[in-house]
Amino acid sequence: MDRKLILYIAMSLDGYIAKKDDNIDFLNMVEVPNEDYGYADFLQGIDTVIWGRKTFDKVLSFGGELPHQDKEVFVISRTRKRKNGHIQYHDNVVDLVKNLKNKKGKDIYCDGGAEIVSELLQNSLFDTVIVSVIPHLLGDGIRLFKEGNIEQNLQFKRAISYPSGLVQLWYEVKKENP
Ligand SMILES: NC(=O)c1ccc[n+]([C@@H]2O[C@H](COP(=O)([O-])OP(=O)(O)OC[C@H]3O[C@@H](n4cnc5c(N)ncnc54)[C@H](OP(=O)(O)O)[C@@H]3O)[C@@H](O)[C@H]2O)c1
Repeated sequence: MDRKLILYIAMSLDGYIAKKDDNIDFLNMVEVPNEDYGYADFLQGIDTVIWGRKTFDKVLSFGGELPHQDKEVFVISRTRKRKNGHIQYHDNVVDLVKNLKNKKGKDIYCDGGAEIVSELLQNSLFDTVIVSVIPHLLGDGIRLFKEGNIEQNLQFKRAISYPSGLVQLWYEVKKENP
């Protein structure tokens, strides 16, 4: 099946996606008018989005209309069940991704957070990893890649550096038995 699970996420140079209190203000420093770092193009190839529940709550806290209204959106949670608009809750991200990969469709975008990423890494389910490295040392916070994940080999595809200092790294995940 050639439907891919893609991790597309931003981290500080020292490997954090947020402060421990979920503050993500460090991302603001790369906000530049008319620069989306390829995000709109990336979304063209996506029809499904996966958020961890805490990431979803962060998105909710921004207010306004939720993004990805045109896509199938799953929020991974053990505690929430009921469908909420275009948001569907699911309690098993591994089963969900395996099922989605067996269906026809565009690629699947995992936006994080780290708990969900960890679960997907442990089960070797990512096909592509796109990390935007922010030129900042956060010092402490929520690590993108938790300790204890299984070892996996990546194939470097490209690096794009932007005037803001953001460097976007693209990798394919090498599969043992493709
Ligand atoms: N820098 C970036 O690009 C970026 C991207 C994404 C997120 N973030 C930030 O990352 C932070 C959130 O990351 P996080 O790692 O703390 O949380 P997360 O992965 O977004 O969500 C964790 C929640 O997911 C559910 N969950 C986790 N494992 C599960 C499993 N095995 N089965 C069922 N449900 C499971 C649980 O929800 P319940 O408690 O409801 O059961 C858990 O509390 C936020 O601050 C967000 O803003 C940053």
